[in-house]
Amino acid sequence: MAGKEPLVYIDGEYQPKGSAKISVYDHGLLYGDGVFEGIRAYNGIVFHLREHIERMLEGLRITRINSPLSKEELMNAVVETLRRNNFMDAYIRLIITRGRGNLGLDPRSSQKPSIIIMSEPVGPAHGKEAREKGITAIISSYRRDMVDGTTHELKSLNYIQSVLAKFQAIDAGTDEVVMLDHRGMVSEFHGSNMFLVKQGIVHTPTSASGILHGITRSRVLKLAEELGYDVHERDITPYELLNADEVFLTGTLAEVVPVIRIQGVPIGEGKPGPVTKEIIRAFQRITQDPKEGTVIREQVPVPARARTISRPT
Ligand SMILES: Cc1ncc(COP(=O)(O)O)c(C=O)c1O
Repeated sequence: MAGKEPLVYIDGEYQPKGSAKISVYDHGLLYGDGVFEGIRAYNGIVFHLREHIERMLEGLRITRINSPLSKEELMNAVVETLRRNNFMDAYIRLIITRGRGNLGLDPRSSQKPSIIIMSEPVGPAHGKEAREKGITAIISSYRRDMVDGTTHELKSLNYIQSVLAKFQAIDAGTDEVVMLDHRGMVSEFHGSNMFLVKQGIVHTPTSASGILHGITRSRVLKLAEELGYDVHERDITPYELLNADEVFLTGTLAEVVPVIRIQGVPIGEGKPGPVTKEIIRAFQRITQDPKEGTVIREQVPVPARARTISRPT
């Protein structure tokens, strides 16, 4: 693929990255009216593709966007985009917007949702060395919205709050930023979920704190249990966070990364801890397991009604 531009799927067609375009009248652009997924393929396996598509379908239900493609068809479209690009390791961005409408925000003016699938070989957000060295964070003064219509549980195209929080991290010279919920409890990082370890027990905030229901979070919760750790989903105060023995983040783009200093306070001994290291090793192992996702070389089964049957006359 050297020198070749990645192909972007747009509404069933493939366009080279440099000329891939949708309408400026798309309500995804005009109003952030749409949902998206960040997905990863490792060594020819799309990690938990089905779970990503299921989360997206939940978001589409809430936003009342009628996807023209079924779950299996969306899965096939992701896999086919990777095949056409010959990518075995890639970050994938799947977006479904309300579609092209008029300038008013009434969603009824958009008749057909737009489906976009981008893929590129992108490394972990904080670089591979962050796994060994750990990263730093501050706590944002912006608060995650209450668990209502604008909740961050919905992976919508409106990430402006996370963008503003990221600027706070940039200004403070840290790698990451912790978001609190409206009560002041720990929610998540600006684009990933939060875990802490205290006296050998793994803790993570609940959905009541306005977290995104992370696919990596949910697999890491199970993984920690498989490794023999007790896992508690509960409210976590900033005080508890800073006094944790270990803190790490999880997300598709970032993967699993130790956080060693928050708000200037060293976490534990100020270096990646043993539980985090064990979870990182185990996570890297499972990303190579075909049972953990959808194999790119094999076709996802298409339900009978979606197949085109042609008979000779
Ligand atoms: C705000 C936010 N929280 C958490 C996550 C982690 O979710 P996942 O593990 O599904 O990538 C993401 C990443 O998409 C995110 O944007």
